[in-house]
Amino acid sequence: MAKGKKVTVIGTGNFGSTVAFIMAMNGTCHHVVLRGRNYDVAKGKALDMSQAANAARQHTIVKAAKTPADMADSDVVVITAGAPRTPGMSRDDLLTMNAEIVKNYAREIKEHAPNAVVVVVSNPLDVMTYVVLKETGFPRERVLGMAGILDAARMAHFIYEKLEYGAGQIRATVMGGHGDTMVPLPKFTTVAGVPIEDLLDSEEIGEIVKKTRNGGAQIVNLLGDGSAYYAPAKSTTVMVDAILKDTNQIHSCAIMLQDDYGYSDIVSGVPVMIGAGGAEQVIMMALKPLQQRRFKDSVASVQEMVDKLYDLKFFDN
Ligand code: 2OP
Repeated sequence: MAKGKKVTVIGTGNFGSTVAFIMAMNGTCHHVVLRGRNYDVAKGKALDMSQAANAARQHTIVKAAKTPADMADSDVVVITAGAPRTPGMSRDDLLTMNAEIVKNYAREIKEHAPNAVVVVVSNPLDVMTYVVLKETGFPRERVLGMAGILDAARMAHFIYEKLEYGAGQIRATVMGGHGDTMVPLPKFTTVAGVPIEDLLDSEEIGEIVKKTRNGGAQIVNLLGDGSAYYAPAKSTTVMVDAILKDTNQIHSCAIMLQDDYGYSDIVSGVPVMIGAGGAEQVIMMALKPLQQRRFKDSVASVQEMVDKLYDLKFFDN
C-alpha cells in the first residue's frame, strides 16, 4: 500500500459520490476508495474523479473496490449506503431496509478496516450509527454519525435568509437525533458572536427552528426522487477533515452516549471534539429545562426504533 491517508466511501449514489468528489477536489487524502454494489459504476466514477483531481492539481487518487479487502488500511470509512427517502417518507421509514444493508457493511469494516474511524450517514442516522457500533464492536470513539453539522448548516442558512447578512459568520447548534425531533438551539446560536436572540424576535426564531427540522424533507419534496446530498456530503467531509488533520474542533455528531446528558447506551447528537481518534471528548452544555425535555423526546424516538430492531431479533448479541 502506498503511503498517505486513505478514506473508503461505501455507497456510490449521489451522496457517496459527492463525498468522494469533494475530497478529491480538496486533496483531503491520498487515496479514496469507492465501494458500491456495482463495480463498473464505482470504477467509472473513480476514474472520472481521479481525472478531475488532476485537473484540480490535486494528488488524490480515487479507486473502486473490487472486494471488501480493498478497504484495508483505511483511516476513515464513510457509510452512505442505503435507500434515501422519497416524498412522504420520514427518515424512520427506512429503518429495517437500511439496517440490513448497514449491518453487512459494518461486518466488512470490522474484518478489513479494524482500525478505521467510521462516519455513518445512512438513515435513520442515529439508529444506523447504533447498528454499526453493535456490529463492529468498535469503541464509541470510532463510530460517529454525521447530522449535527448538516442540521446546523441548514439552520444557519435559514437565519441568513431571514437576516440577509452574516453569511459565513453564523454558528448554529443543533442537538438530538437527525429526525423530526431534532433540537435546534437558538440559545447557542450566534452571528459573529452576537446571540440571534438579540437579532430576531421569538416568532422569527420559532419559524427558523421549524424550517430547520423540515430542511431535509423540503429538499426531498422538491427533488421528487431521493434526498439532499450537497450539504450532507460537505458536512461529512468536515468530519473527515477533522479526523485526518486531528483538529480537535467541536462539531455536533451522533455518538453513543455513556452517562452524557443523563443517558447511556443510546445514540444521539451532542457536541463532540473530533480528532485523529474520532471522538476525543463529548462536550457538555448547560441546557435549560425546555431544551432538556426536547432532547429527552429526541432520545426517546431513537430508542423506540432501536427497541424495534431488538424486537425483530435483528442483533445477534
Ligand atoms: C438529509 O437530511 C440525507 O438525512 C439527510 O437531507
